[in-house]
Amino acid sequence: MNILIFGAKGYMGGNFFRIFPGSFASDVDIADTKAIGKEIDRIQPDIIINCAAKTGRPNIDWCEDHREDTLRSNVTGPLVLLELCQKAGCYFVHMSSGCIYHGDNNGKGYLENDPPNFFESFYSRSKIWSEQILKEFPLLILRPRMPFEGKPHDRNFITKVLKYERVIDVQNSMTYAPDLFAAAKKLIEKRITGIYNIVNPGSISPYEIMMLYKKIVDPSHNVERLDANLLGSVTKTGRSNCLLSSEKLRTQGIELPDIHQRIREALKEYA
Ligand SMILES: NC(=O)c1ccc[n+]([C@@H]2O[C@H](COP(=O)([O-])OP(=O)(O)OC[C@H]3O[C@@H](n4cnc5c(N)ncnc54)[C@H](OP(=O)(O)O)[C@@H]3O)[C@@H](O)[C@H]2O)c1
Repeated sequence: MNILIFGAKGYMGGNFFRIFPGSFASDVDIADTKAIGKEIDRIQPDIIINCAAKTGRPNIDWCEDHREDTLRSNVTGPLVLLELCQKAGCYFVHMSSGCIYHGDNNGKGYLENDPPNFFESFYSRSKIWSEQILKEFPLLILRPRMPFEGKPHDRNFITKVLKYERVIDVQNSMTYAPDLFAAAKKLIEKRITGIYNIVNPGSISPYEIMMLYKKIVDPSHNVERLDANLLGSVTKTGRSNCLLSSEKLRTQGIELPDIHQRIREALKEYA
């Protein structure tokens, strides 16, 4: 079985490459129809996993000032892959994001078919635009949120939050990265299609994580609580804070451990 991964030099792509040993990694521009066509002819993939995207460095604020690049990678590219996957009869897996919602949906968390409601950042809008088109076709769309793990990495949510002197105390859904890749592998092996939120059940706030970090990893770490209303004063664009439901994932027999358990495990590994 040939698996072709785009964006394999990135955080998600590198992890998919590890869980599917023997897969092919490509750094061809996903918006370049000719080049992607050549890759597909050369590798003859059964499965294409799209992890290529502009996610911004150091963060999504970058996308505000690089709209053409972001549009090309996050919207045009996925559509090129969709068309060529359909033509080649490949099973297509696309990385979306849970950062397209705001709020907790009256405590229930947002379901996969709830319409997105967070449009403040260009990054989130670009993820919404591509997802809205892709969801009309038979492919697998994965929505993780704020992925974290026990090893430092600039994409690890714990590593990201450690850089801030003040953090918000708003409950969020988050994803333990090893659970994301294990769940994705199961869905891919069963050739499941549709949208799946991949988050650990329960919720936690960035401030709570930092309090646990102080307790488990480094008692000398200093952090203050930032009023969520003041977040706009330290970022260029809005940030999504939301709860997602993991109920649909459960219907596939995939039950992830509670978020608090995973955060503690990750922090112990961090320590
Ligand atoms: N990490 C998170 O917090 C998170 C959370 C939820 C969802 N996601 C989603 O997961 C996916 C992967 O994210 P990630 O964290 O792995 O991001 P990442 O580390 O920035 O990796 C993305 C990779 O895609 C490459 N790329 C960008 N535009 C491309 C194009 N047009 N053609 C080919 N490659 C291109 C990037 O190269 P350059 O660096 O050269 O641009 C980079 O190597 C994205 O769709 C993202 O929205 C991420």
